[in-house]
Amino acid sequence: MCGIVGYVGAQPAMPLLLSGLHRLEYRGYDSAGIAVVSDGALEVYKEVGNLSRLQEMLAGVDLPGRLGIGHTRWATHGEPTTHNAHPHTDCSGTIAVVHNGIIENCEQLRRELIARGHRFRSDTDTEVFCHLIEEYADGDLLEAVGAAISKVIGAYGICVISSRHPGLLVAARNGSPLIVGVGDGENFVASDVPAIAPYTQRVIYMEDGEVIAVTPEGVRSIAGKDALSARVHSVGWEPGEIEKGDFPHFMLKEIHEQPEAIERTVSGRLIESEGDSHLGGLNMTPNELLGVTRIVIIGCGTSWHAGLIGEYMLEENACLPVEVEYASEFRYRNPVIQRGDLVIAISQSGETADTIAAVREAQRRGARVLGIVNVVGSTIARLTDGGVYLRSGPEIGVASTKAFTGTLAVLFMIALHLGRQRHTSNAVGRTLVRAMQALPSQMRQVLAREEEIAELATRFVDGRNALYLGRGYSFPVALEGALKLKEISYIHAEGYPAAEMKHGPIALIDKNMPVVVVAPQDSVYDKVVSNIEEIRTRRGQVIAVATEGDTAIASKADHVIYIPQTLEILTPLLAVVPLQLLAYHIAVLRGCPVDQPKNLAKSVTVE
Ligand code: AGP
Repeated sequence: MCGIVGYVGAQPAMPLLLSGLHRLEYRGYDSAGIAVVSDGALEVYKEVGNLSRLQEMLAGVDLPGRLGIGHTRWATHGEPTTHNAHPHTDCSGTIAVVHNGIIENCEQLRRELIARGHRFRSDTDTEVFCHLIEEYADGDLLEAVGAAISKVIGAYGICVISSRHPGLLVAARNGSPLIVGVGDGENFVASDVPAIAPYTQRVIYMEDGEVIAVTPEGVRSIAGKDALSARVHSVGWEPGEIEKGDFPHFMLKEIHEQPEAIERTVSGRLIESEGDSHLGGLNMTPNELLGVTRIVIIGCGTSWHAGLIGEYMLEENACLPVEVEYASEFRYRNPVIQRGDLVIAISQSGETADTIAAVREAQRRGARVLGIVNVVGSTIARLTDGGVYLRSGPEIGVASTKAFTGTLAVLFMIALHLGRQRHTSNAVGRTLVRAMQALPSQMRQVLAREEEIAELATRFVDGRNALYLGRGYSFPVALEGALKLKEISYIHAEGYPAAEMKHGPIALIDKNMPVVVVAPQDSVYDKVVSNIEEIRTRRGQVIAVATEGDTAIASKADHVIYIPQTLEILTPLLAVVPLQLLAYHIAVLRGCPVDQPKNLAKSVTVE
């Protein structure tokens, strides 16, 4: 989605804006632009396509101004053209605005503003902000932005500058994430932490409805009396975490980071002697947890897949009924929430618009909502009544990998604890804890097979379709494997419960159809082997993900990728790794932009 960065301070703004936009590229975009107040005038540069084109345009430009805003745009209103790229300006060319989100009453406001003599130069909803602010721009810019947003219905995170106020950035938020980065003698505004992470680790997460003035000396809200300094958080990221290091892509780096990420996720949260877990952030007493009679899990995409695995974990361990819902469906249904229901919202970014809306809907109906979130201080982290951070570290690649396995580790710990409160014995609990503790090193063993998986990828690089099958815990893994392949390699792939194949997809199977079967030695192994036979009979090519030592499967599958033996409940954390690597290597061989697949965004902040 769109990215915002703003700077005010003692350094020339242009290089800082460009490097900030570079670090926001992972969010997905189709055009980019900056506006800088230089020598008392507003200068705007924008370009369609990759950020490098904007950088080329600016190569010989002398732009010493110390106040500026930048934007990467992911088109919603109006095609990806230069005139629709941000920043947008008012009629006088003194005010510039960048905006993430969607203005719902844009057409009506546009008509009114045109009737009052304003001239629009783009097809965007954003330009409405520029002209509205211009209407009130005689005095204080902060007040003008406050007055303008009072007319607007919709979601926005905006950053505004004016050549009449050369030391002032104004930021306003409603539904679209914005942070203020607090530096020394300089301050920043951004839609996302990576944009400003090299310059400051101290941020204020803006709240919905807030309008903030940012100067080199400090920040103040429109009310003027809020203690913003009390809201400064440390993001706690190591600078190297947002660099690729020796890896060609963030996705590959993040796949390889999984063992350490899982170690961080469970660190200090597993109690081996008690066969239990301790998750302080749940903010629920033992009695409140015991009072939970049903769990509803909501999320989108990969987070939804993790939720499906959570369903199996919770049902098996805690014997609780669990429902897993797409957040986008939940928010518009009439979901039944009853006493005893606990809603768990899963979101790596904590900023997915549908998941935020679903959380609000659940809270409106009286549910207690917990969040499983990676990004500290994100909207869902702040909105929910409690929750668990993944501690996976920043995930930059659009395709979610380490956040998926991190989420599974958290769901496992929740299931373990609820189980120990109810039916699970100490002995069983200890077995579960030990299996989890062994998992990171088992993941390293799977990662060591990368070369073999890369070689396998060469055989499927020209494929047009693929089927992913699994049963039980492996069914959501199949869904996730198919999602990884389609989102980064653009090969059509479908995940299916293996037994469902007979009810339709089997018609597709022939010698050209690769079928990835997740077939670890678990409680449904024999059933899955029967499904493999059905594929072989129809000459489909079988790639099996199987348990080390399972030599029998080698005679049934065309290719086998082995994973170490673990408990069934933890198998998804190992089985998904080869599927991530397979998708990655196929995408690389096809020349696809792995970290920024077309049309996709890291956080989907619009509905
Ligand atoms: C994952 O590879 C996807 N890019 C996408 O499905 C993602 O998981 C989804 O948009 C949800 O994001 P969230 O976890 O940040 O809410």
